[in-house]
Amino acid sequence: MTRTQIKKHLEELLGREIKDVTEIEAFGIVIEFREEECLIKRGSYETSISYDLGADKFFTAQKGFFKRLEPLMKDIQDKRGFGQLLSSWKSRVAEISERHEKARLEAELNKKLSESFADATLSAPVLSMGYEHYLNKVRDEMLAVFRAMGYTLVEERELEDEYHNFEALNIDADHPAREDQDSFYVGGDKLLRTHTSTSQIRTLEKMIKNGEEPPIAIVCPGVCYRRDAVDATHYPMFRQMEGLVVDKNVCFADLKGTLIEWAKAMFGGDTKIRLRPDYFPFTEPSAELSVSSPDLLGGKWVELLGCGMVHPQVFRNVGLDPDVWKGFAFGTGIERITMMRYGIRDIRLFAENDLRFLKQSL
Ligand code: DAH
Repeated sequence: MTRTQIKKHLEELLGREIKDVTEIEAFGIVIEFREEECLIKRGSYETSISYDLGADKFFTAQKGFFKRLEPLMKDIQDKRGFGQLLSSWKSRVAEISERHEKARLEAELNKKLSESFADATLSAPVLSMGYEHYLNKVRDEMLAVFRAMGYTLVEERELEDEYHNFEALNIDADHPAREDQDSFYVGGDKLLRTHTSTSQIRTLEKMIKNGEEPPIAIVCPGVCYRRDAVDATHYPMFRQMEGLVVDKNVCFADLKGTLIEWAKAMFGGDTKIRLRPDYFPFTEPSAELSVSSPDLLGGKWVELLGCGMVHPQVFRNVGLDPDVWKGFAFGTGIERITMMRYGIRDIRLFAENDLRFLKQSL
């Protein structure tokens, strides 16, 4: 580099005119601020410093400017003058260094962007929506009907003891129904409930314990378990919905009126109901409800539900006086109603989780 070139370069760096190049050569040292690095020369001594140290550290860092100048400084007499010259270059260095840092960050960002290039022309992934299960759909429909009639929803435990599943419901130890319904015992007298009728006892017990008394009207949907062999209409796990109303002046006509309302809401305004005597240990009298509707199996009678007036012994078991309180109860299977509603012929489909089946519930 010629002296004129050095002058020009330094003038650019200093941002002012240098009258005499000896200003920088006065100390016998040539300092050249190149774009990519800074060069220090004196005689045969030559060293370069990278701007990557950053503006702050450029002068002070271990491998920085002053450190490199140290061996040359001892010969300089006018240390003060030299120091002033150096400090006038500081802002220049800061500028170059800043430019470098900016370029570095930009390169880094571009690299990242090029690595994670998002292709806006790709089609969005198809999200598949869930489907409401047939059984939940029908359960909710039934709940809505009973809620409209003023019933409260309760949910009860699936793990029961023999007392609440049988005895309290007047099904004593050697009752044939108990044999029929023998369930999955899980140790001691604990079993998975065989019906939702347990909710009658649990609800009344809770009410008495809280010092409250009827009237009450509840519906309790839930899963029940029985030791049934699996076939198209039997599954060891199934759902029921129980209903219970207790008040002072409840009679069989109330039960019948309720069931007519429910049947019409579920199966259409043309639905007829039929009640025939039946037997359940926890209701007296007991009945079996069948419905007939033009839309349902061509108007054939279909048995749907067991019901009756709450047995006096059930009231006694929970601590209610049967001479004061009357009630009716009913229990129905949700699977059976769902199968009829949608023409489903195999109960096993409900539990198989085959999407081709579940999707059709939309
Ligand atoms: N718990 C009975 C069953 O599982 C159904 C039933 C019958 C419920 C008569 C009732 C009732 O509430 O009154 O077969």
